Amino acid sequence: FDPFRIPSAYAVKDGTRQAERLLQRHHDDGHAFPESIALVLWGTDNLKSEGAPIAQALALIGAKPRFDSYGRLAGAELLPLALLGRPRVDVIVTLSGIFRDLLPLQIKLLAEASFLAASADEPLHLNFVRKHALAYQAEHGGDLESASLRVFGNAEGAYGANVNHLIDNSRWEQEDELAETYSRRKGFAYGRSGRPVQQTQLLSSVLAGVSLAYQNIDSVELGVTTVDTYFDTLGGISRAIQRAKGKTADVAPVYIGDQTRGDGVVRTLGEQVALETRTRMLNPKWYEGMPEHGYEGVRQIEVHITNTMGWSATTGQVQPWVYQQLSETFVLDPVMRERLAKLNPTASVKV
Ligand code: BEZ
Ligand code: MG
Repeated sequence: FDPFRIPSAYAVKDGTRQAERLLQRHHDDGHAFPESIALVLWGTDNLKSEGAPIAQALALIGAKPRFDSYGRLAGAELLPLALLGRPRVDVIVTLSGIFRDLLPLQIKLLAEASFLAASADEPLHLNFVRKHALAYQAEHGGDLESASLRVFGNAEGAYGANVNHLIDNSRWEQEDELAETYSRRKGFAYGRSGRPVQQTQLLSSVLAGVSLAYQNIDSVELGVTTVDTYFDTLGGISRAIQRAKGKTADVAPVYIGDQTRGDGVVRTLGEQVALETRTRMLNPKWYEGMPEHGYEGVRQIEVHITNTMGWSATTGQVQPWVYQQLSETFVLDPVMRERLAKLNPTASVKV
């Protein structure tokens, strides 16, 4: 692992393809070209793919990594608009704590890409980073450096958005509480210096303009309903976007870039949850196998149901049939309910 070579040449190529695939899917769904996209970046995914999701962010902005004559990462550079062939997207990146710990050079790379885009003397309808940074500056003052901060994450030493804990413990009543928790945890902006500064107002302002939220998955073993960290990060930001936009605004769609096979495919969050529910939770091979593992198998069923609810709470984009069929399979079937309750009464009560 050589952090000076991330993103690799392959990742840059693949990241460009995946970015175009995302824009195409969003267009095919009938939406206007997105001025702003919120992209969630995890550390492990970027290690496994030599930085492909990082490269997606750069591709959307219309930037690429710059390497010195030894081939070491030295910063970002913009692609000319003529070569890009479309406007520069304003990409709001949110980092996991693990990304922050593992990839400090790449934080600076992303921060530099946004700053360069904001500084470029280009027409505003072809450069949404500059358009939004100048508008923010006009309204709030300050310098362009601050107005173009687009990389957000936790404070140093902190991990996660804590939205998963609120859901797991049912410690929330209004969706805005989830958004508030998310924004407090992830409202630290990382600039070109790499040092985080709390910028909650800027985060809220940039999120208000977001057209879609997005994250990649890269393992068939881990889906967005398998662990609670996906809805913590991607669901959390979706809820924060919704709060920033206001109650009457259209809901920003959430997409998953599945790169587990072939060329990859972009799904809506609703499609991804439906796919995982059909193949795991409602698949007899899966749910009949779980009780064979005793209490832990039942806990796995509970975890998947709680995570699915986490997506509903944060995005509202889970289809109703999912709950209908989960209820029929695990709650309304007395034999199944009894079996699960015997093996793990605690998890069964939660279901
Ligand atoms: C990460 O690699 O950044 C990550 C892994 C698991 C949960 C959350 C983040
Ligand atoms: Mg749990």
